Amino acid sequence: MAADSKDSLLRFRSEFPILASTTYLISNSLGAMPAQVYEAAHAYADTWARRGVRAWEEGWWQLAAEVGDEIGALINAEPNTVSCHQNVTTCEAIVASCFDFRGKRNKVVYSDLNFPSVMYFWEAQRDRGAVVEMVPNDDAVHVNTQRLIEAIDETTLLVPISHVVFRSAFIQDVEAIVERAHRVGAYVLLDSFQATGTIPVDVRKLNVDFLCGGVLKWLCGGPGVAYLYVRPGLAEKLEPKFTGWVANRLPFAFEVGAQRYTQGAYRFMTGTPNVPALYCARPGLEIIARAGVENIRQKSKRQTARLIELAARRGWVVNSPHDAERRGGTISLDLPQAEVVCAELLRRNVLVDYRPNAGVRMSPHFYTEDRELDFAIAIVDEVLAEKGVAAR
Ligand SMILES: Cc1ncc(COP(=O)(O)O)c(C=O)c1O
Repeated sequence: MAADSKDSLLRFRSEFPILASTTYLISNSLGAMPAQVYEAAHAYADTWARRGVRAWEEGWWQLAAEVGDEIGALINAEPNTVSCHQNVTTCEAIVASCFDFRGKRNKVVYSDLNFPSVMYFWEAQRDRGAVVEMVPNDDAVHVNTQRLIEAIDETTLLVPISHVVFRSAFIQDVEAIVERAHRVGAYVLLDSFQATGTIPVDVRKLNVDFLCGGVLKWLCGGPGVAYLYVRPGLAEKLEPKFTGWVANRLPFAFEVGAQRYTQGAYRFMTGTPNVPALYCARPGLEIIARAGVENIRQKSKRQTARLIELAARRGWVVNSPHDAERRGGTISLDLPQAEVVCAELLRRNVLVDYRPNAGVRMSPHFYTEDRELDFAIAIVDEVLAEKGVAAR
């Protein structure tokens, strides 16, 4: 039975224009745009037009810190510990630049289910002395935590891992990995892109050293803003070599010579931040805070379970964990002719995506109705019937 009439989170639907015309099941890729973004983008243009260069001191300079704190509030970070950047790959590069890979402690450990962009970055650090160990898994759904932990040893410097695996939505056992890493003196960099906004994330409880992610998926914040949290106590000791004037303690003194780092979140900044993207990120962050991540999580568990049940009835393979406690917001359906089915769903305004080794990914979010899930599955039924494909 659809529980839409009792679902108080559906009150947010009217704030997302695209929901009126599509079945939006793709927040794992790009969250729906809040209508408020029109005003935010206008406010940005208006400020630039009217205030010109004065805008920097009237708010733009502090914007990356303010938005950092808004994201920080969602992950239980202390104020002034989250900086904003262009994308997650940049965040990983800033963290990498804090370390020297020429010494004995130079190993980087992650699993083969990490997001590829992050992998390409770390692979490229071999030329800077990093010994990269990519730990294989038994399937494309679960990370073999034990195997990953065994690879973390006294020579390990960094463990850059996904919090929620993008292909399958498997939630990693972060606590166990952090415990092992810290025991041998290694640092953990957690990529929570597929986690923040759909599962509760608490940097203090997880005790991670670094955490990064972007706002464009589950936080409905649009492209161009990623966040980097660095654990207080560690942050002051680090001197990122990928740095710039925004990280300087007196940026407007324009001192020549070596960097003199500021304290707090801006210590990890580089050059001029992406001001228009920061404006556009705020409405989504504000709505997520109002909706409450715990409420979003409860609903997500229920709706992903519904998708699993609908798939099971049809004999479809589900490439996502069946255990709700280990499952994030996405269900990957390994359908026959998945790529064709995906194209047909898109043609009929059901927005999903297809990823190799995953299948068709469907991601209900807090604004999704149960009836939309039933509708999407009914279309898959129709497409498979039209193509004459029997369920496996
Ligand atoms: C887990 C994860 N990390 C990183 C990214 C993207 O990284 P970037 O912000 O560098 O484009 C994605 C995007 O799909 C992702 O799912």
